[in-house]
Amino acid sequence: MQTISNCTPSEIQKAAEALVDGKLVAFPTETVYGLGADAKNQGAIARIYSVKARPVNHPLIVHISSINQVEKWATDSSEYALDLARHFWPGPITLILKKSRLAIDAITGGQDAVGLRVPLNPVALNLLAEFEKLGGSGVVAPSANRFGSVSPTSAKAVEAELGNFMEKGDLILNDGPCLIGIESTIVDCTKDAPIILRPGAVTTEMIEQVTGLKNTVDLEGQKVRVPGQMASHYSPKAVVELGMPTQQGGGFIALADVESPAGALRLAAPISIEEYARVLYKALRLGDELGLERIFVIEPQGGGLAVAIRDRLKKAASGK
Ligand code: TXA
Ligand code: MG
Repeated sequence: MQTISNCTPSEIQKAAEALVDGKLVAFPTETVYGLGADAKNQGAIARIYSVKARPVNHPLIVHISSINQVEKWATDSSEYALDLARHFWPGPITLILKKSRLAIDAITGGQDAVGLRVPLNPVALNLLAEFEKLGGSGVVAPSANRFGSVSPTSAKAVEAELGNFMEKGDLILNDGPCLIGIESTIVDCTKDAPIILRPGAVTTEMIEQVTGLKNTVDLEGQKVRVPGQMASHYSPKAVVELGMPTQQGGGFIALADVESPAGALRLAAPISIEEYARVLYKALRLGDELGLERIFVIEPQGGGLAVAIRDRLKKAASGK
């Protein structure tokens, strides 16, 4: 496994060739780093599951270079789904659509729907475009972390998560820290109206505005049916507790205007909700690097991106 830190066109070309050869290529997106494989290569897909130690019934998102590739992977897409694609791609939203025959069971976990996304990161987009030029159709990419763990928002975090499990010829493309820092919004578009399965930077309000449909469903407090959305997700090794510290000596994450309690080790003090999302996973990782047993977190209040942050924190907190 090699990390490429200067992602020139020729290095991206080599990475696209590695995908064609059935290798795994971890790459940056605006949300988190993904672990990529040729979406038509069963052997490479099987390696993703083993490198991540992920149960095989958890479906993978297919990453494509543009909306023009949707027809390859999906059929009978509704008008509102295409509106969302036109409006938000490239960007942090994954659309769940009725699958075409190209989307094999190894990707969909045997479901009749496939998740598609056009990521907003120049290295990712160039990689996908080069891969398609070589005859590829799409790149499956889950977050590049071990199953249940915190998603990586830097190439260094990918190395720490998966370095021991990747092989010769596999690559990590380094394009610095991710701009958004939490995973894409996932929207089930197989029904009459969109259903939000995982909140993210594209918010409920934004989706309602674009589709003109009111009945998007928020996840908070609701039972979820997405595979992979089990409670013990996004968890660091440290125990995450929501609220002010109940004991001395843990880590502490809160917006900058919340003062650190005595004895707590401040892991992040973001000044905005956007910065909160961007630094959260790095701060949780830092807590693990420092060997902390507990990390106390004050959740951000309000709607929009704060909803997605609270969703991840709730899952991180129920992990142990
Ligand atoms: O931001 C992201 O979405 C990142 C970057 C790399 O694109 N990817 C990501 O992938 O978060 P992953 O595999 O860690 O999470 C994708 C989630 C899983 O919970 C999976 O179950 C769900 O999407 N998913 C994928 N395909 C699906 C499908 N056909 N139906 C329902 N859920 C699906
Ligand atoms: Mg993940």
